[in-house]
Amino acid sequence: MSNPLKVALIGSNGQLGSDIASHFSQSARYQLTALTRADIDIRKADEVARVLTSQKFDVVINSAAYVRVDDCEQEVETAFNVNAISALEVARACRDIGAFCVYISSDYVFRGDRPDPYTESDIPAPINIYGTSKLTGEYLVRQTAPRSLILRISSVFGKAGASGKGGNFVETMIKKAKAGEPIKVVNDIFMSPTYTYDAARLLDALLQEGASGIMHGANAGSCSWHEFASQVLRLANIQYPIEAIPALAFPTKATRPMNSAIISDRLADISTFKMRPWQEALAAYIQAR
Ligand SMILES: NC(=O)c1ccc[n+]([C@@H]2O[C@H](COP(=O)([O-])OP(=O)(O)OC[C@H]3O[C@@H](n4cnc5c(N)ncnc54)[C@H](OP(=O)(O)O)[C@@H]3O)[C@@H](O)[C@H]2O)c1
Repeated sequence: MSNPLKVALIGSNGQLGSDIASHFSQSARYQLTALTRADIDIRKADEVARVLTSQKFDVVINSAAYVRVDDCEQEVETAFNVNAISALEVARACRDIGAFCVYISSDYVFRGDRPDPYTESDIPAPINIYGTSKLTGEYLVRQTAPRSLILRISSVFGKAGASGKGGNFVETMIKKAKAGEPIKVVNDIFMSPTYTYDAARLLDALLQEGASGIMHGANAGSCSWHEFASQVLRLANIQYPIEAIPALAFPTKATRPMNSAIISDRLADISTFKMRPWQEALAAYIQAR
């Protein structure tokens, strides 16, 4: 067997990052350096350069982001600093050490005003600050790192959310139902849920196949948030009403794409790895939590 790839993972204690860390650290194909904010604050260009050039990394995975979509509308500078400028600094370091640069991106780069899921060849047109900052990050990475992969995921749930760090939508639904709080969820916004456990395995498969460019990596299928919430409670064996409301009745600071479902039309050509349907992924998550 060839030498393991030396991988640096930024954002290793995030929801996605922690699943990448646990999968990659158990694989003989990788020698993982898991970096938290304490090891590298990506807003500090000198720190990024110092940490990422301290070893001859083959791959740098940037899973760090400022993900609070509504707060991004006010905190525009932070959104662009973390999601775009810092991504550029990471890409520069990758260029300098000859590393392959992986940037995790989002379905929110799309406008969401059509009924079909978006593929990798669809033109992005974000409608909020978060999406715009992520798309800018994508452009800066592609422009700067000679070899890169942009992996777009969406509506993430994973065990780091379950363990209390900020939570996730699934945990919120279960908590509210158990507390007997009224639950209202929008039924006219559609998306493709992504289980971070699966996305970590997809990334492994993509690295093995030498995939580059843009890839979509959500679980298969799509649903409304109301349908997703209903399936959460069903799988958790909780009988509890969820009121379906239109997005108009639930105004948020950031405008959301009405349909940001994503699908890959590249994966089948690149790898035998398949993202399972979101219902199966959710069942696996509920069982494992
Ligand atoms: N969550 C979603 O629904 C969703 C949807 C589509 C795409 N994505 C993308 O998926 C990726 C992972 O998201 P996630 O849900 O796993 O988010 P998360 O749980 O909030 O994790 C983000 C990670 O980034 C780290 N981080 C933030 N600012 C940093 C900085 N200045 N320097 C170093 N590390 C920093 C955080 O560290 P701390 O713990 O110290 O804050 C955390 O480890 C992101 O690129 C995100 O844009 C997420």
